[in-house]
Amino acid sequence: MNPPLLIRASVLNPVDADHWVFHRDGGLLIQNGRVLRVGAISEFQDHPASALLELDSLLIPGLVDVHIHWVQHHVRGRFRSDLMAWLREHIWPEEQNFDNTLFARRLARAFFQDTLRAGTTLGMAYSSPHTEALRVAADEVVGDWVLGNSIMEKAAPEPLCDASPDNADQVAGLLKTLGRERYAITPRFALNCSAELMRGLGDLARQEKALVQTHLSESLNEVREIREAFPEARDYTDVYDRAGLLGPRSVLGHCIHLSPREHRTLAQRGAWIAHCPSSNEALDSGRMDLQAVRRHGIRYALASDVGAGPSHSMLHVMQRYLAQHRNAGVQVSTREALYRATLAGAECLGRNDRAGNFAPGKHADFVELPRPGDDAEPEHWFENLLTGEARDLERRPLRTWIQGNPVDAATAESA
Ligand code: GUN
Ligand code: ZN
Repeated sequence: MNPPLLIRASVLNPVDADHWVFHRDGGLLIQNGRVLRVGAISEFQDHPASALLELDSLLIPGLVDVHIHWVQHHVRGRFRSDLMAWLREHIWPEEQNFDNTLFARRLARAFFQDTLRAGTTLGMAYSSPHTEALRVAADEVVGDWVLGNSIMEKAAPEPLCDASPDNADQVAGLLKTLGRERYAITPRFALNCSAELMRGLGDLARQEKALVQTHLSESLNEVREIREAFPEARDYTDVYDRAGLLGPRSVLGHCIHLSPREHRTLAQRGAWIAHCPSSNEALDSGRMDLQAVRRHGIRYALASDVGAGPSHSMLHVMQRYLAQHRNAGVQVSTREALYRATLAGAECLGRNDRAGNFAPGKHADFVELPRPGDDAEPEHWFENLLTGEARDLERRPLRTWIQGNPVDAATAESA
């Protein structure tokens, strides 16, 4: 057993959507990669003279991104158009490159380095359909990531459909190999899958209590195409519901153009929304109706949705989340932004026993940020920390720690 380490720094600890605890002169006691205790530094005076590390920074828990496409990392934010045209013209051609394992390995390394540099320590990511690229990414993971290869049976370029699993048994094999902590069942979206295939995936998800990730109601053109492809369904949400794909471990990206009936269904199933404000802005998809989501009590966490999202920085996602809803006259606080980018994400991924804030026993995964001035109010100061261009925000963290060990973020970033 290693001796405990007491870190003296400012600490911001999210509690829920309305509360955080701020210690300007705080202490974080860690041992063997776990949090023992957090509080004001004065509360640690009785502590035996263990190793003390004084940092001129502020600590927040590791950031959590519940919806990102690692295979789109190096084409992120490059294109702006309607979702369906963007997928067909830019994204699907790019994803075909992931049949090359060397290419996949190089990009997986860059992805995990860059997300860590930006302070993300936990997330769930879409792979291309290729099983080998998925394995390579699983091999290269730094931090705590759930991965799923996009299942695409139709309505996409042949090489992607050919590379994709096309039945639930194949997906069950991957789930078994990687384990349900590491693998998410990932029907890309209903336009790429038949009702029958989705039913098989829904059954598997229920039997194995597996995480499910997919896209729901992102663009109006997509919703129109869904209506034509699934005339028997009441609406887009019903397509997934009939397949048994909606449950408390389902994470649905976007959820913008939903009716009250669809909101009710999501709430009843306990499903999560991956709210992707920067992506929604970039593709001009629309604003998620936050008031309706709140009214229905639907759970949600923030996500970058790179590559439609222009940046993997969750600080940037928080910035766009606050700006977008405030511009529409909806109240959102910095406290809620931090909660949605940390603890809510950990809850969404079933990891709140080990991630999301500094509760004792959790992994000591955290991010060092520039320290607030002595007179700064935490709200005001945190809001200031979120200003700037995406590229600045990707580099704002001073250092990221994983299980009590600092990772040299400055050198970690890929070219
Ligand atoms: N819908 C289906 N595939 C995708 C994707 O790769 N990105 C986004 N933003 N939406 C999708
Ligand atoms: Zn997406």
